[in-house]
Amino acid sequence: MPTLFPIRPLTPEPELHAANLPDPVGPLAAPSHLKLEQYLPGDVLGGAATAPRLSWEIATAPAGWKATSAELEVTRTDAAGTPLATPEVLPLATADGILAAWPAQPLTSRERVVLRVRVSGSAADDQRETSPTLTSPWSSPVVYEVGLLEPSDWQALPVGPAWPENPLADRRPPRVRREFTLSGPVVAARAYVSAHGLIRAEIDGQRVGADELVPGWTVYGSRIVARTYDVTELLTSRGDGSGSHAVGAQLADGWYRGHIGFDGGYRNLYGDDVAALIQLEVTLADGTRQVIATDSSWKAGVGEILFTDLYDGEKADARLATPGWSAPGFEESGWWPIAVGASDAERLVMPSDAPVRATEVLRPVEVTVMERRTADLNGKVIEISPERLLVDFGQNISGRVRMQVSGAAGQSVTIRHAEVLDGGELGMRTLREAEATDVYTLRGDGLEEWEPAFAIHGFRYVDVTGWPGRADEAKAAIENGALVAVVLHTQMERLGAFAASDERVTRLHENSRWSMRDNFVSIPTDCPQRDERLGWTGDIQAFAPTAAFHYSCTGLLSSWLTDLAVEQKAHGTVPWYVPVIPGGFWTPPTPAAVWGDAATVVPWELYRATADTGLLRQQYDSAKGWVDLVDSLAGEDHVWDCSMQLGDWLDPSAPPEAPMQAMTDPHLVATAFFAHSARIVSQWAQVLDKPQEAAHYGQLADAIGEGFRARYTDGVGHLSSDTQTAYALTIAFDLAGDEERRAVAGKRLAELVEASGGNVATGFAGTPALTAALSATGHAEQAYRLLMETSCPSWLYAVTMDATTTWERWDSMLPDGSINPGGMTSFNHYALGAVAAWLEQVVGGLTPAEPGYRVIEVAPQPGGGLSWAESVHRTPFGWAASSWRTDDDGTLSLDVVVPVGATARVSLPGGKSVRLGHGRHHLSA
Ligand code: BGC
Repeated sequence: MPTLFPIRPLTPEPELHAANLPDPVGPLAAPSHLKLEQYLPGDVLGGAATAPRLSWEIATAPAGWKATSAELEVTRTDAAGTPLATPEVLPLATADGILAAWPAQPLTSRERVVLRVRVSGSAADDQRETSPTLTSPWSSPVVYEVGLLEPSDWQALPVGPAWPENPLADRRPPRVRREFTLSGPVVAARAYVSAHGLIRAEIDGQRVGADELVPGWTVYGSRIVARTYDVTELLTSRGDGSGSHAVGAQLADGWYRGHIGFDGGYRNLYGDDVAALIQLEVTLADGTRQVIATDSSWKAGVGEILFTDLYDGEKADARLATPGWSAPGFEESGWWPIAVGASDAERLVMPSDAPVRATEVLRPVEVTVMERRTADLNGKVIEISPERLLVDFGQNISGRVRMQVSGAAGQSVTIRHAEVLDGGELGMRTLREAEATDVYTLRGDGLEEWEPAFAIHGFRYVDVTGWPGRADEAKAAIENGALVAVVLHTQMERLGAFAASDERVTRLHENSRWSMRDNFVSIPTDCPQRDERLGWTGDIQAFAPTAAFHYSCTGLLSSWLTDLAVEQKAHGTVPWYVPVIPGGFWTPPTPAAVWGDAATVVPWELYRATADTGLLRQQYDSAKGWVDLVDSLAGEDHVWDCSMQLGDWLDPSAPPEAPMQAMTDPHLVATAFFAHSARIVSQWAQVLDKPQEAAHYGQLADAIGEGFRARYTDGVGHLSSDTQTAYALTIAFDLAGDEERRAVAGKRLAELVEASGGNVATGFAGTPALTAALSATGHAEQAYRLLMETSCPSWLYAVTMDATTTWERWDSMLPDGSINPGGMTSFNHYALGAVAAWLEQVVGGLTPAEPGYRVIEVAPQPGGGLSWAESVHRTPFGWAASSWRTDDDGTLSLDVVVPVGATARVSLPGGKSVRLGHGRHHLSA
């Protein structure tokens, strides 16, 4: 057996349990977990904001303590970190640690500051007359460095190969390179990197950063992201940095000109070129800055990658590798001249989110040797050769495999990917036309390690052919870690966890979290596996509250929402998916409810979770524009009954090939969402201090409610569509009219659940509202009945069928284990996993009662035979938890953790309610 390379250590996600959370009561701690804007906590390089807002947590403070003031220390430094002036200490306008406004002069491109915070306050709740003011120690410093913000900052031009052949036909991923000399010792260096297509840059033979799929997907016609890297160490690894160096970049088609979309899809969406954009800025010891930017002095060539595509996979022949191609002194024979494109300076932007990264590595849980049967013309098996391996990684992921293999030169290992098995073999049908096949051809000189550089697949299983050696040896090597699965997605901070005494319910929640990981790859996609992976607006509209609980995702979503607004402006409506495929299917987009409502619901739900009013400001026109558009389409009675609607997409009655054929009137659904969005915009306007607009949209929401009732109810509370979705939406969006009719609606919904035998009957529109509508109207029993049901359609049905992610359809897999015959069937769509928000809020019992969890509502409603459940969430103030347990004698004990700065409103099942300050609290009822 070959010696294996160590598996690169990646920190697995931490186990989150209420019992492990530290007690927030203690001596006043220094502010910690400093965050700038909605980036990941810690240092930021290449920031987009000139006045970055600042957030922090206070891990411990004496009971009753409240922050009353906060100060920021700002030290301006050069790129190497040497202070340029004495630190300034400035008061912050807010002291609660939630996105405090920048108090200093706005920053400009490349400016770098080192920041520390401290807070002062006293125990305001203290009964004593005077409680002493306590001032915290200073926080640890964080660095914020601005990226390139002005078009004039950019010298780099897009450079790619001047192909000898037809550019449209040639899909061989090119490389570009150049050498350069630095005239003195290096003190600091930055690389600003972007591309038409995808890029991996290298300096002196070493990879720049660990980001994947750079620059991510945006509406490239308007915005292309550039990422920033500190490359000082790469340039000084062999001395002081002076002398000769090389910079190179491997390129790939990616979203820019790769295969996108179904039914054959599209290519060259944004252009027919592939090009690198690199600007290397090197500060020398004498203070001068040397800039090496992509321009006509670069050369183009190719390497070992023969083909790569996001859907179809990657093919590499290691015999074609040219070691040293990105190091100085490389012989450029056979390289071509470069094609230089027009400047992109106007559309290059700094990111608001973190990059895609490898976040976890999974080992196989089962490796099976598969036989290949060769039959003669009469069908008689004449040869059985054990030469295929089926590998199960135990979890449906987005990512790719990494292999360590040795064998003869020219031998090819082929990896095919799938989410599920179908009759014991890979179920490839769910991929439609995505080939999802990677091929590696060996160099043959010892142990080789390979992982595709630009392909990404949605899979749990792989089928391996061509692995050198006997099948049993290959199986042993793979079991031993020679083939691992690398999980790839946008880096996000883990915020939430939920667990309950029934493992199936815990798994249901985990499945929704995995589907989020697998689909938050630069944009929020529908699925990670088939020839689609688009930013469907309806899916994230349904899932937004759940997403905000699982991970910090405002960075990614605010970038995507920026694009949503760009596309909305271009097309006059919120499209069904963003970015839009220009000229692609369902274009030009037409207004459709549930999908278009992403413009209002997604920012609003993020605001509820994070209190980010900046995001509300950024998206206000978009949200308002959406409601105004629907207002112009709806009739005089405000019923929206004219446009083509996707409605309650994929409710369980919809036939496999007709996902829109739902039980609920699509115009009832559309009008309910219209009312909901108008109400949101009214509240939103209030937050932004626009009283007139708040009143206008409030009145509009009222009028839509009246129109809704006039058209769709009998006046007593019954609906024209006698369906779970119709009642759930009426309750969730407060459309019943009054308490009495709301109670009638709740009762009817509960009856429908009983009548269905506890089976779910909702699709993308109704599912997020269903269980919450029941528990909000006193029918928690029926909500739990739905939750605990295991026959199809139900949430636990998928769990009992070994799902490790949320399925697109209630019956993506049929009870006999076969795949749903519908052409559109995925096992990794997050929308129906929106029930997780109800698990967190009602089963576990943790809800943001005021934006950012400033007031936390702790109101678990135990049921379903569960003996305990808990929700844990890192709120903007810090960790919070609600954890309950019932004893044999029926007493309920509840543990609540409230972070410093927040308060909790706790309601116990018997009706008792208390208000709690920060700390760990134990209650029983
Ligand atoms: C996607 C869905 C999407 C829908 C809308 C599907 O192909 O996968 O999740 O929302 O189309 O038409």
